[in-house]
Amino acid sequence: MSVHSGDIVDLEITDMAHGGRALAKLDRFVVFIDRGVPGDKIRAKITKRKKSYAEARVLEIIQPSSIRVQPRCSHFGKCGGCRWQDIPYPLQLKFKAQHVRDNLTHLGGFVEPPVAEVIGSEDVHFYRNKMEFSFYPDESSELLLGLHKSGSYNEIFDLKQCFLQSELSNRIVELVRRKAKEFDLPAYHSSGHTGFLRFLMIREGKNTGEVMINLVTSAESHEGLNDFYESVRREFPQITSLMQNVNPTKANIATGLFERHISGQKSITERIEPYTFEISANSFFQTNTGQAAKLFSTVVEFCGFKGGEKVLDLYSGTGSLSIFVSQYADSVTGIEISDSAIDDANRNCESNGIDNCSFIQGDAIKVFGKLLTSGDKFDLVIADPPRAGLHPKIVKCLLQELPPKIVYVSCNPATLSRDLKLLCQERYELKKVQPIDMFPHTAHIETVATLTRR
Ligand SMILES: C[S@@+](CC[C@H](N)C(=O)[O-])C[C@H]1O[C@@H](n2cnc3c(N)ncnc32)[C@H](O)[C@@H]1O
Repeated sequence: MSVHSGDIVDLEITDMAHGGRALAKLDRFVVFIDRGVPGDKIRAKITKRKKSYAEARVLEIIQPSSIRVQPRCSHFGKCGGCRWQDIPYPLQLKFKAQHVRDNLTHLGGFVEPPVAEVIGSEDVHFYRNKMEFSFYPDESSELLLGLHKSGSYNEIFDLKQCFLQSELSNRIVELVRRKAKEFDLPAYHSSGHTGFLRFLMIREGKNTGEVMINLVTSAESHEGLNDFYESVRREFPQITSLMQNVNPTKANIATGLFERHISGQKSITERIEPYTFEISANSFFQTNTGQAAKLFSTVVEFCGFKGGEKVLDLYSGTGSLSIFVSQYADSVTGIEISDSAIDDANRNCESNGIDNCSFIQGDAIKVFGKLLTSGDKFDLVIADPPRAGLHPKIVKCLLQELPPKIVYVSCNPATLSRDLKLLCQERYELKKVQPIDMFPHTAHIETVATLTRR
């Protein structure tokens, strides 16, 4: 195919591809496009030419697809989040199911994988219980507070309104920006490693009404900081927890080397069905509370408890899955690397009156290895790893432990498919795959898969 980087071509988008990109064909050559929806006729610039595919950037939508819907958000197009707002929600779900199927087929090598229809989200707006907003100085050193521009790691735009968390969250962002300017707190700049304010994290208990503000800064203190806190607290008495995380390193992450408790509680609580969860600033918790309930009940269903099972919960976080399955199991052992998540998990068991879960802090590879050496046997392993999926050593441990059943919870269909392939090549059979949409208007999809030992 004679197409080159820099060429301008007219294309018709035919499908959605992985990572939320659109897909078109030039004769039979595949082109991945940064945006667009099936049916769009576009003019695009080829930005990369590989042997079997090319990448392109939309220059102009010549004729919009008839399936397009009006995005609700005024930042659509500029913002890196919610890039599927112009696709009707039922179609988003169809593309997500296809995405899971394609990954399992092409990366996992499964023929006709048993993928169910996606469980959609009842709330398609204001569904997030946690958001991270970034501070950044613009060219004239004016402080910006908002989200990342599409395709950029360090370009931030000033957020006016976002439909992901809540109207309260929008008002907090606006006030924090105004007060940061009033008290002369400078935004952090990554290239010069200068400035003070790095991130604003807001957590909300959707079912409890509790609100946490966590300010991530490059140093512990700054002139005007106490007045800033006082003023934010006065304006928003709804804030039940005010925390500060100090990250003096160059790593652009929203967790600190240490944490300061400014006022209120040190954590917030969220309720999911009969359970209450305590969540600290740095602990992982499912971000879509409504869908988390469906995710947890799918996991319980896929576990297919008969009674008396010994369960291993790999990557147990704040213990939410452990707690949800505890009433059906004999015992649950969780493994988790984060100290604060382990503390939360222990507190969560205590406050929910659960006494058959225990949590081991450490790297899953080391801890699982030790459990194997000491001859611990589990009837069921639940694994909910980060996006990178299971480390090959964890796959090895699973194939050594050989539990009769594995329930794998994944936020990344590509690593899920890779790991399922390794497990099924050896001793397991893929029984059921249930995608659950935790992130409407984005290309992300959560998946629960169950495997039984052959
Ligand atoms: C997707 S979350 C799952 C959390 C949990 N299942 C829940 O629903 O709350 C992944 C968790 O893995 C933990 N983690 C990441 N790397 C780890 C490792 N090497 N060993 C143990 N835990 C790890 C993270 O801290 C995080 O809590």
